[in-house]
Amino acid sequence: MNNLFSKKLITILSILILFTFVKISLRSQILQSSDPIPIPTPSTIITNTSSVAVLPKPTSTQTPIPLPTVSSIPKRVTSACVYALVNDETKKLLLRADKEMALPDGYEPEVVKLPLEYILQGWTEQYLIPEVANAAMDLIDAAKKEGHDIVIRSSYRSYQEQEWTFAYWVKELGLEQAKRESAVPGHSEHQLGQAIDLTSESVNWELKEEFGSTPEGIWIDQNLHKFGFALSYPRDKEEITGYIYEPWHLRYVGRACSKEWYESGKTLIEVLKGIHLDY
Ligand code: DAL
Ligand code: ZN
Repeated sequence: MNNLFSKKLITILSILILFTFVKISLRSQILQSSDPIPIPTPSTIITNTSSVAVLPKPTSTQTPIPLPTVSSIPKRVTSACVYALVNDETKKLLLRADKEMALPDGYEPEVVKLPLEYILQGWTEQYLIPEVANAAMDLIDAAKKEGHDIVIRSSYRSYQEQEWTFAYWVKELGLEQAKRESAVPGHSEHQLGQAIDLTSESVNWELKEEFGSTPEGIWIDQNLHKFGFALSYPRDKEEITGYIYEPWHLRYVGRACSKEWYESGKTLIEVLKGIHLDY
């Protein structure tokens, strides 16, 4: 009798344990499948989504900047941006992340969480490296003082988050169009922890090309360089940058380089390529 009771008890307990395990594993699958990152709204809607969603592999990687010593810089090079490249504190801000050049394998900057008031309300947590977080807050504060309400919609994305983002866009737009709007993993400035995507009420808090002609977008375009930022993907420069016009996407390079970029009239990639080749 006792033996029968124990057997029944063991059976009931086993069923309970199995049930709890299945419940937990279902729950974690649901959590994992929910959209983990803010996804920008594409400016172009493509109906052909038949392309195969294969992630292209990064074409090349860079070791953390091949740096010259100060004495090896040719005397003719007087650029403040080049000098930023040979300063231990600032050189790490000048890594290239573009279509040709991947970030070093496993690149993971140390980032800090941004205060909620700088982020789109009700949105996910946002992170940047400390120097960029401060510059972004200064930029947004200055805009606010001049009557422009601007918030961050996207910032640091890990390699894996960029993988999810790119895969999402391939599914939405097809591979060819996705490559014009989203970087393949390892090639995004968002992985640097130095890029921000900005938005405002004028564009319904989304990431749209029209942002560039709103009062907020115009203010950003005229003032970003004072805070160390550059516009990575200007209008009509896709042949050089590889990406469509993104008036919302700013990359921090520090004030020496942002000033040089702004005054040169070149795209940021040309400036960065130039400073990496000039010596
Ligand atoms: N949208 C830019 C290109 C990125 O994905 O980094
Ligand atoms: Zn961006």
